[in-house]
Amino acid sequence: MTCGLGSAPWLAAELRALGFEVTAERDSGAELVGTLRDAMQLNLLLRTGNRVLLELGRQHALNADDLYRFVTALAWESVLPEEGYFTVASFVNTPSIRDTRFVNVRCKDAIVDRFRGLTGRRPNSGNERSGAVVFVYWNGSDLRLYLDTSGESLSRRGYRKIPLAAPMQETLAAAVVLATGWTGDAPFVNPMCGSGTLAIEAALIATGRPPGLLRSEFAFQHLRGYDDALWRELRAEAQRRPVRKPPYPIVASDLSGEAIEAARRSARTAGVEHLIEFHVCDFAATPLPAVPGIVILNPEYGERLGEDEPESPLYRRIGDFFKQQCQGWQGFVFTGNLAWGKQIGLRTSSKQLFFNSKIECRLLGFRIYAGSVRSKYAAGPDAKADVTST
Ligand SMILES: C[S@@+](CC[C@H](N)C(=O)[O-])C[C@H]1O[C@@H](n2cnc3c(N)ncnc32)[C@H](O)[C@@H]1O
Repeated sequence: MTCGLGSAPWLAAELRALGFEVTAERDSGAELVGTLRDAMQLNLLLRTGNRVLLELGRQHALNADDLYRFVTALAWESVLPEEGYFTVASFVNTPSIRDTRFVNVRCKDAIVDRFRGLTGRRPNSGNERSGAVVFVYWNGSDLRLYLDTSGESLSRRGYRKIPLAAPMQETLAAAVVLATGWTGDAPFVNPMCGSGTLAIEAALIATGRPPGLLRSEFAFQHLRGYDDALWRELRAEAQRRPVRKPPYPIVASDLSGEAIEAARRSARTAGVEHLIEFHVCDFAATPLPAVPGIVILNPEYGERLGEDEPESPLYRRIGDFFKQQCQGWQGFVFTGNLAWGKQIGLRTSSKQLFFNSKIECRLLGFRIYAGSVRSKYAAGPDAKADVTST
């Protein structure tokens, strides 16, 4: 299973909760021993994983000839239909290879040559991930061949219809929601929601709805011997899972009416529109439920850590919002700009590392206390709450 850098602990936790034994945790993935049926099920159920890979073999390999020999030795005729279509993708970091496209072409040639040698016929191949997908992982001399049973990344759930600037990937959003500790039993408020990814993933988590039900196309459907009846059974089983009704609404707001319209439409497609209250407003005007819960913001943060403007009035205002309006809540800010994160002006209770594509980010957590802490600072004009580390 692969996932974004930083999401691996959440992926491993998900796998364990589904009853799998995780045999290895990697920086951007986790491993287990399982069957093609397990792979189909994981494509349906996983929230934080990007791809479900099935290993076909591994080999010590130093150059392209080693690759070719190894690939031709694998029994492709038992996994790829000869009248089908496949593509090759790769991660390559080995000294003898300068252009990773060469690896893809060499691997494709080896597969095709094996088919031709056996039957005189061959499957079609190309760059589209619309059929079976072969994945080459080659790091140093460690060469591994996989079937990518997902094809398109599982982050493409299929609910996002209108593209907006800087949306969070769905699988990253799911990991971030899980990292807040939210289980659906308290209010979840997401000001600055943009295209609504955090709120929609939160709703899917709260209801226990398997995200893969939203998608109709997976690469395993193009493998030899694909069992459509089994797939329909797995989907029906997933559909029969009890849908929990969260006791509190999820609140999502944004200054942009266009963003809220896009978020609402995505929530409708995902089947969770009725669970989310949408508001067009400044983040500080977001109506908070009376019972405290989790409030999470993902403000814009520019491209690089600390290389933008040193000051951010917006981040300072987020600190004020937490202090003045979110007493008793757990506050979170997801940002790739640590310098701006400091402008929030509150002590963090947690800092969790994530990557948004290649940008190093943090999920900053704040415990926003009222009561005794307030009385301690009550003398100051703005001091209604403080945040302490735990
Ligand atoms: C980085 S985007 C959030 C992306 C979001 N997590 C997603 O998945 O699409 C930041 C959002 O903050 C909104 N925003 C900026 N300033 C705001 C403010 N003062 N009040 C409310 N929303 C604001 C922008 O309109 C934008 O949609």
